[in-house]
Amino acid sequence: MSNLQIKSFEEYQQKYAKSVQDPEGFWAEIAEHFQWKRKWDQVLEWNFEEPKIEWFKGATLNITENALDRHLADRGDKVALIWEPNDPKEKNITYTYSELHSAVCQFANALKARGIVKGDRVCIYMPMIPELTIAVLACARIGAIHSVIFAGFSASAVADRVNDAQAKMIITADGLNRGTKQIPLKRVIDEALEMCNSIESVIVHNCLGWTPSMTDQRDFWWHECILNESTACQAEEMNAEDMLFILYTSGSTGKPKGVVHTCGGYMVYTAYTFQNVFQYEENDIYWCTADIGWITGHSYIVYGPLLSGATTVMFEGIPTYPDPGRFWQIIDKHGVNQFLTAPTAIRSLMAFGEEHVLSYSLDSLKVLGTVGEPINEEAWKWYYLHVGKERCSITDNWWQTETGGIMISGLGNISPMKPSYAGYPIPGIQPVLLDQKGKEITDNEMEGYLCIKFPWPSILRTTWGDHERCKLTYFSHYKGYYFTGDAAKRDENGMYRLLGRVDDVINVSGHRFGTAEIENAINTNSNVIESAVVGYPHPVKGQSIYAFVVLDKPSDDIENSRGEIVESVVAQIGKIALPEKIQFVTGLPKTRSGKIMRRILRKVAEGDTSNLGDTSTLLDPLVVEEIVANAL
Ligand code: WTA
Repeated sequence: MSNLQIKSFEEYQQKYAKSVQDPEGFWAEIAEHFQWKRKWDQVLEWNFEEPKIEWFKGATLNITENALDRHLADRGDKVALIWEPNDPKEKNITYTYSELHSAVCQFANALKARGIVKGDRVCIYMPMIPELTIAVLACARIGAIHSVIFAGFSASAVADRVNDAQAKMIITADGLNRGTKQIPLKRVIDEALEMCNSIESVIVHNCLGWTPSMTDQRDFWWHECILNESTACQAEEMNAEDMLFILYTSGSTGKPKGVVHTCGGYMVYTAYTFQNVFQYEENDIYWCTADIGWITGHSYIVYGPLLSGATTVMFEGIPTYPDPGRFWQIIDKHGVNQFLTAPTAIRSLMAFGEEHVLSYSLDSLKVLGTVGEPINEEAWKWYYLHVGKERCSITDNWWQTETGGIMISGLGNISPMKPSYAGYPIPGIQPVLLDQKGKEITDNEMEGYLCIKFPWPSILRTTWGDHERCKLTYFSHYKGYYFTGDAAKRDENGMYRLLGRVDDVINVSGHRFGTAEIENAINTNSNVIESAVVGYPHPVKGQSIYAFVVLDKPSDDIENSRGEIVESVVAQIGKIALPEKIQFVTGLPKTRSGKIMRRILRKVAEGDTSNLGDTSTLLDPLVVEEIVANAL
């Protein structure tokens, strides 16, 4: 569609080589394709020690001018957004580029009228409706820093994020549709706000026609806020390194971190990867099924596609409502050409049987994507055979909230494919495998810790309010490298296969949780002395959560105690983090220095207790026997 696109594998190899020899020249050439209010003085300044990374230094821009205004002359009447409702009987809604531009400007003016200015943090807790995209872009329009919170998080999790960001405003809705269920969002916000003091106003979109309680002087209806606002709004001039958004994600410590992305580099990288990975062409319809509450939705529903002038589909519902053919029905209905979903969705639909997919033609599809977790060979093949009908290429996109955009992946139909391999790095990305000692493994057919040795434009810049934490988590394990937390293998041809996390992060249905975060939630229960949480393989979710819990006195009603633990997790984090298995134990296996031996617990959770390794150094080796004997 545009001259950012690589068209053959040979061209990819040339571009890749150039990107390593002359990264600054390579990215400067790509950045020329965007609209800057002022050009950069310097393409890149960096060190991974502090870390300090600045791309396109001195340049100014507004990302929404690139995502909207820039397209108005040629694509004003082109559909930018197709919204597909939860209920197939309801009508879909479309916005052309010019309609989306007006809606964003109008809402941006409403934010200003409520006192929001450049640099303010605005939390967004919304259903997957067009207003979510509008709210995100309206913040970017006026330079407010958006922090989208996935609408499945509990009041307590919302409050943690609002407080950490010291947000001034929350944008929400009365409630949301999810299959047959309706979930009240405003009520969660009301509960969260009892624990927050920085919020001055709440804007509520009326999505379900409910009448939630509205606090005078604090809560305002979206439709009333925009009533008298103009549909023109001058875009705030932002420095390339000004913050665009914060997105909270889980790591190996208890508290979620606010990953910070900035305007210039994020814009360049998400557009570049969108156009190349999905090989989007001008009249294509592109659909990513992620939620905008996660990074995939930020980069590949909103920013990447709109920066590229694409038509992006946004879906309110779930894959199984009203039946497990819903995804395929939407693809046929809108003639979707590129489709991106998660392995967990593929596996769950697989379990319902082929008949739900075989009745759809799916002949518009060209490129299929999978993202968020490793895809097993069986799911890859099912996707290739039944969805792609052996005609479509599959791109397996490996990346992270912290990387802002796709890092290792095939490019549409131009790269070689290999089931369960993400493939080759995107130009500009320099992955390395390190051994235990931090030495680079240069041979192929080897496994190691996956690190990146050179910055790319959308690398995280900091963690909000705590730069030291950013340094410790990502730049201190191996000096001079960005540490991903993942292990990977390189095959004989240099293709990468991701092997999962090597830190205490669990990936459940593509959602990231820190074990400590879930343990903290369990430990809020007053009967709990301590707990240890590990992940174990699950056929649909990828990984599931197994909790080992020590109570202060033995429970005489195990089911009731389990229910209480579940309640604690729902209250602290949300239903998405529920432990599938909860085992009550009298003690945890610990080293003499008091460190929990998770390796042993992981083996128990995996049901592999034949070789637990040396347990003689444990404080109390007997607890292991008890744990094994009562394993679930
Ligand atoms: C995992 C999601 C294997 C990985 C975009 C990473 C993957 C974490 C893949 C980031 C993939 C993501 N193959 N593993 N294609 N994509 N992961 O921040 O462990 O929600 O570190 O970003 O998901 O999850 P996050």
